[in-house]
Amino acid sequence: MLKLTEELSDSLDQAAALIRLSKHVVALAGAGLSVESGIPPFRGPGGLWTKYGEPTNLSYKEFLRDPQEWWEARFRNEDRPGDPTYELKVAVDQAKPNPGHYAMVEMEQQGFLQYVVTQNVDNLHRVAGSQNMLEIHGNRTWLRCLDCADRQPRDGYHFDSLPPRCTKCGGIIKMDTVMFGEPIPAEVLLACRQQAETCDCMLLVGTSGTVNPAARLPIVAKELGATLIEINPDETSLTPWCDIVLNGPSGEILPLLLNRLQNGGDAEPGNRA
Ligand code: APR
Repeated sequence: MLKLTEELSDSLDQAAALIRLSKHVVALAGAGLSVESGIPPFRGPGGLWTKYGEPTNLSYKEFLRDPQEWWEARFRNEDRPGDPTYELKVAVDQAKPNPGHYAMVEMEQQGFLQYVVTQNVDNLHRVAGSQNMLEIHGNRTWLRCLDCADRQPRDGYHFDSLPPRCTKCGGIIKMDTVMFGEPIPAEVLLACRQQAETCDCMLLVGTSGTVNPAARLPIVAKELGATLIEINPDETSLTPWCDIVLNGPSGEILPLLLNRLQNGGDAEPGNRA
């Protein structure tokens, strides 16, 4: 349980004041936001890559080399314990949004948050009710055509033949999740960059800030005059760029921040350390 120290309480007040003064607040979300939903992060303590090593940048090249084999292997090995994707799949299949996701939805609904750019592919923002969002690394519950970029839900899709073909243009269909070595779909990347260029405040929620181009977005925002507020239990490579750092798990920090935003900064009744 997070200890609400005097310092944290003051930082929450400052963050709420900054957000209230801002016109276009964007949140850059990372895997840390979903840790309290039971999904391991990639780096840091308990991270999948910490455990299994960072994947190479060859995943996409391997897919393109033989899409049919890739899809056949996927259906063959879908439940193969001991593989990082299996561990992630089991965790994500069972995951539900946590109070951090719901606090972001409330912030959006009450006008304190205008857009979410998420690096997470777990679909939890959508399940929680986020509307204005961009999924820079795609969404594991969707499929995408490599040629025309048409996206469709994976649920209900009939894999009559492998590799699956786009009904619109006949192109090869892959998972919407962006693979290592795969370029981010151009229109998504442009939209994310536009959010970084137009925001005057960016929340960095549960991201290590290590994977580009997502990790570059806060720097772009900062260089254009935006303020940065980091929400993370640990220090990251983005911490030195931040105006305010709220150290703690996002599932607890975000509801506290929402409370300050709603109550004009009054401290939580009986909750000060
Ligand atoms: N609340 C908030 N942040 C947390 C929590 C928590 N409960 N637990 C851990 N964190 C922080 C960690 O300290 C770390 O800084 O979340 C961050 C997770 O970092 P990564 O695992 O590197 O996740 P992310 O930054 O989203 O990675 C970016 O890398 O492998 C790719 O595609 C993958 O989208 C991912 C990208």
